Amino acid sequence: MFSDVDTPAVLVDLDVAEANIGRFQEHCNTHGLKLRPHIKTHKLPMLAKAQMKAGAIGITCQKVSEAEAMVAEGGIDDVLITFNILGAEKTQRLRALANRVRLSVVADNMTVVDGLSTAFAGAERPLDVLVECDTGAARCGVTSPEAAASLAGLIHGKPGLRFAGLMTYPPVGGEAHVQAWMTQAVAVIEARGLRVDVISNGGSPGMWRAQDVSVATEYRIGTYIYNDRSLVERGVVTWDDCALTVLATVISVPAKDRAVIDCGTKVLTSDLLGLDGSGHVLGRPDIKVAALSEEHGVLTAESIGFSVGQRLRIVPNHACVVSNMLDEVVLVRNETIIGAEPVAARGKVW
Ligand SMILES: Cc1ncc(COP(=O)(O)O)c(C=O)c1O
Repeated sequence: MFSDVDTPAVLVDLDVAEANIGRFQEHCNTHGLKLRPHIKTHKLPMLAKAQMKAGAIGITCQKVSEAEAMVAEGGIDDVLITFNILGAEKTQRLRALANRVRLSVVADNMTVVDGLSTAFAGAERPLDVLVECDTGAARCGVTSPEAAASLAGLIHGKPGLRFAGLMTYPPVGGEAHVQAWMTQAVAVIEARGLRVDVISNGGSPGMWRAQDVSVATEYRIGTYIYNDRSLVERGVVTWDDCALTVLATVISVPAKDRAVIDCGTKVLTSDLLGLDGSGHVLGRPDIKVAALSEEHGVLTAESIGFSVGQRLRIVPNHACVVSNMLDEVVLVRNETIIGAEPVAARGKVW
């Protein structure tokens, strides 16, 4: 299996990734939602451009350096960074980025807003700032519609900034709650005389219910391009929809019920996403990826049936973190190797 590829390797099947891009773009088109894919899943400018070509309005990045890597070669002109950006070094880089693309960012507190305003005061175009809202996921975000309205008012009054709307990373299954929360926030903000142009929602677990938050104007989604074991286990997609797999070689078969492969947490990562085991061996649902150390992966099954040197493909629990582990991915179409692609935004976490 892919005998020309050294292992461990991360394979990306372009046929599957392109089908995933097309299928969800069509879903958004059908429901009148703009699509703004989160590139933290693939970190590849070539796939970001494929997403734009299919109809996305722009991309989402989590970090400034990630955005810089994505726009470096041109072809991407609209970026939302969904992270509180703190510190003069970073906000100055944001200003440079804003000269190249239509840039928007989020904030959930005044320390961030003040820093953004200092960097953008006197800028040719004000920076669009969305208020990040905690609609139940309990990460960042203001915790009530009233708090969203008061931060919106403060952003509106700041030099160099424009209040552009609201953003949330929703709780899984929380569509009705997000809809009610955002509807209330819009009402309170409009009562203050401000416009809410953008309402940005999104995540792959709720992808087929994106339209249930009808107040949203755009959907941000990352994992859908590759998919992974977590989404299959949730019933969102099937194994055939998984574009990213890890190619591994069996290096030891110490017992009838156990084999060891040449990759551990440094490829598959220790991100379990709440699942039992660290991946799914394609074609062998009876196998458990039972334990990982840094470079070893231990597979167990009643009868493991492997021999040393045999190769297998694993769908990881969480594709996005695996993308950040190796310098390049191997592009394939079904059983044909297309080439290797450097992961341009790998390690861009500042
Ligand atoms: C701010 C934000 N938006 C969108 C997403 C996309 O989520 P998913 O990978 O589930 O599509 C994430 C995921 O971490 C996120 O943090």
